[in-house]
Amino acid sequence: SAAEKDGHDWFMRKEIFEQPRAVADSLLGRRGADGQLQLDEMRLSDQDLRDVDKIIIIAAGTSFYAGMVAKYAIEHWCRIPVEVELASEFRYRDPILTSDTLVVAISQSGETADTLQAIRHARVQRSKVLAICNTNGSTIPRESDGVIYTHAGPEIGVASTKGFLTQLVACYLLALYLAQIKGTRYGDEISQVMDQLEQMPAHIETVLSKSEEVYALARDHVGSRSVLFLGRHAGYPVALEGALKLKEIAYLHAEGFAAGELKHGPIALVEEGLPILCVVPPRGRDQLHDKMISGIQEVRARGARTLCLAEEGDTAIEPYADVLFTLPQVPVLLQPLVAVVPLQLFACELATQLGHDVDQPRNLAKSVTVE
Ligand code: G6P
Repeated sequence: SAAEKDGHDWFMRKEIFEQPRAVADSLLGRRGADGQLQLDEMRLSDQDLRDVDKIIIIAAGTSFYAGMVAKYAIEHWCRIPVEVELASEFRYRDPILTSDTLVVAISQSGETADTLQAIRHARVQRSKVLAICNTNGSTIPRESDGVIYTHAGPEIGVASTKGFLTQLVACYLLALYLAQIKGTRYGDEISQVMDQLEQMPAHIETVLSKSEEVYALARDHVGSRSVLFLGRHAGYPVALEGALKLKEIAYLHAEGFAAGELKHGPIALVEEGLPILCVVPPRGRDQLHDKMISGIQEVRARGARTLCLAEEGDTAIEPYADVLFTLPQVPVLLQPLVAVVPLQLFACELATQLGHDVDQPRNLAKSVTVE
């Protein structure tokens, strides 16, 4: 009923709007009185974690994209090599696992069979397994050596939204915690990032307050046959997730690409009027932002309609954006927390306009318990 959905038409839309709270709840109680980061339910000892020389993240679907963001964060802050692998591929390729490998399994439901079989394989090889999970007492955390619970609350819509944002939070917390115990970052830098994370619920709220802008854009694209998504750095997994959302609930052909790869193939797809959603990285000291803009120029010169998400005050993008949606100014590693929200709203509204059942998309299940 509408009451269970807080007046929204779909659980998915309700859950998108719950994200500021879900993110805030997932950050709660993580800072000790001494200012140190603490992950109480983690169970793995600091000594175990200090010995870790390689991390392999395994997950499926949306959770896999959270894992891709985690790789950028962990390698940057902790200098530990990270691989991200689809759970369904992991054990079949005979992965190299030792007792100093930390396997991180990300699963909203905690019941995905592919992910469960992957952690069982890792444990037989004596690797330590840490679960990032939203479901208390589910099988994956039960069979892991440690767990970081996300606090999204129950997620009912089949397409994951608040589950994803809270997984990102857990990944940032894990990365910062590893940096703290490995000593790769100073305490004041860690608390600065924690301060920035604590501002994210307000930033997500700002994005949600402009949902009408996104809905209008979605209504303009009801007749589109295909939508491409471009991103770089932490915006690349955001592009992949934006495309996945459109496939899942709008049944639309959608592909996400790393913007730098365009010239190596995907640019051949560009034709007059093709909508391309572009996740523009924040302006920074590196060349990321400028290179993204030249990629956008390239596709636009070939007739694409560029729908750009860029930070507030980014005037350099203006001449090349057919549509511009502004995001709050946040660091590049944290940008997925705000950038994915308009993409969720876009898919939800487009699917609604197309008359699909957003909460129960065809052929999909909330948790897939068969391999
Ligand atoms: C299913 C769902 C997806 C989800 C994936 C992984 O395919 O339809 O929305 O991302 O499973 O689920 P998990 O619970 O392991 O995160």
